Amino acid sequence: MHLLRTPREAQAAVLAAELIARELVLNPRLVLGLATGRTMEPVYAHLVRLHRETGLDFSRCRTFNLDEYVGLPFSHPGSYHHYMEERLFMPVNLRPEQVALPDGLAADLPAACRRYEALIEAAGGIDLLLLGLGQTGHIGFNEPPAAFEARTHEAQLLPLTRKQNADPFGGSARAVPATALTMGIGTILEARRCLLLVTGARKAAVLAQVLEGPVTPLLPGSALQRHPDCQVVVDEAAVAQIRQPGDAGPS
Ligand code: GLP
Repeated sequence: MHLLRTPREAQAAVLAAELIARELVLNPRLVLGLATGRTMEPVYAHLVRLHRETGLDFSRCRTFNLDEYVGLPFSHPGSYHHYMEERLFMPVNLRPEQVALPDGLAADLPAACRRYEALIEAAGGIDLLLLGLGQTGHIGFNEPPAAFEARTHEAQLLPLTRKQNADPFGGSARAVPATALTMGIGTILEARRCLLLVTGARKAAVLAQVLEGPVTPLLPGSALQRHPDCQVVVDEAAVAQIRQPGDAGPS
């Protein structure tokens, strides 16, 4: 894992966005995996800025989001469809047929998960996958203990995750859906390149474990140590508890 340190959250988000933009310029047909959460908001804001100010072109790429809650209408402010529409899909030149999220409204959820995997495969696999880190150590919605070979599946959310994600649900953890569809760790590890973005002091303890602790299902993000090409963009607050000053873990 290759650590890219920046002083503050704003610079980390800009760097992550610039790395994505660079890949998109090099390969306009990029297959991009996308994450949600507060950490990603300034990343999408910067990508929108690059689209408006420099003409960054999304018209030929494909996107696949990591996860979506089960049972939420797309119009719900907590749904990741809604999040993505508002922050990226609408403001840039991405058409509906270019973008995909797991279908948390499907009557047959296992079939929806299989379809999602097939869609990713038909697109040629994910070239670059943007990832955040939950305080439980989750990536996507793969909560501990996580099976490292898992494909897209329905995952139970831990109480801490529901609490942390409660803002768009009127602040009530119980209003946050109990399950979500998520790419599995197996799906994530198959992406050709991963870009993990972690900012803020509240992630410092879990990030130190992910970067320097043992690879264990009890910390799903630690699976990224096994990825051959994973960049980790951080701010200083997020790496306050790591031991190593430079690169972390095997690269
Ligand atoms: C959410 C998402 C993850 C995200 C993580 C961190 O639950 N499912 O994909 O990376 O938790 O969220 P935040 O950036 O709000 O801390």
